[in-house]
Amino acid sequence: MENMRSARRNDTGDDGSDLSEQIKAATKENHVRAENTQLMLSYQKGQITLAQYKVLLCSLYEIYKALEEELDRNSSHPAVAPIYFPQELDRLDSLERDLEYLLGSDWRNKVIVPAATLRYEQRLRQIGRENPALLVAHAYTRYLGDLSGGQVLGKITQKSLGLSSKDGLSFFSFPSVSSPNRFKQLYRSRMNSIELTEQQRAEVLQEAVAAFEFNIQVFDDLQKMLSFAAEADQSKSNAANFSSVPIMQFTMGVCVALATIGLGIYAL
Ligand code: HEM
Repeated sequence: MENMRSARRNDTGDDGSDLSEQIKAATKENHVRAENTQLMLSYQKGQITLAQYKVLLCSLYEIYKALEEELDRNSSHPAVAPIYFPQELDRLDSLERDLEYLLGSDWRNKVIVPAATLRYEQRLRQIGRENPALLVAHAYTRYLGDLSGGQVLGKITQKSLGLSSKDGLSFFSFPSVSSPNRFKQLYRSRMNSIELTEQQRAEVLQEAVAAFEFNIQVFDDLQKMLSFAAEADQSKSNAANFSSVPIMQFTMGVCVALATIGLGIYAL
């Protein structure tokens, strides 16, 4: 209850020294940029496709796997313990369920992520090992995002893809959080209770900016991956008439190989 009261006081903006306010202010511009990535714009226009949704879930799966494993491993660290809410927030199981529903039982062999996802994941592993206090920046960026705009994105996904039940959509639902707004207040007050030196606080703010940038890069890479796949599809059908000519087969093979290397796609 005390937590809730202090969180409400913070929300009034009286005291600008709380971590929750500083982190929001520090990432404000990055949030606008994240909202304006092509992938998020497609979302806001209600134009998300099944292909976009599937690749997004694949990347989120790898990101949450790293984030939640590192939070679990560091759950008793003094900067992690206050914001450790596995029961309420963990997304890994729900992502596994969604991927199984959308990609089939052998979904693990079909998870494809771009290079930016791999970099994001590596950063999470590195700070989990070397500087766990920075995990709060990443947990904030993803979980508070999921509990905010993410709730609207869930409804848009259901509508855009014409999914009739909750199947394939469990990523957006938090059954153990009855009120996202109240939970966010609790989370902010827990963030504010973490004891950090000035230096550590500055590092957390910097890491939150980096966390948004990792997300932006993932969205941009996913979009490139999808347009590349669409172009490859298109040229496959255009080439159908002359692909029997060996020199054309060779040239197309070289182009596809170069484009794949250029995009840095990792099939896990
Ligand atoms: C279509 C894209 C998005 C929309 C429409 C959207 C919308 C929103 C809205 C309406 C809020 C609540 C603002 C408030 O309470 O003052 C919010 C908060 C937040 N969003 Fe987003 N968002 C989007 C994408 C993202 C992305 C991609 C991320 C990060 C990966 C993100 C991270 C956050 C965070 C961390 C908060 C909590 C801010 C705070 O209260 O400290 N959002 N978003």
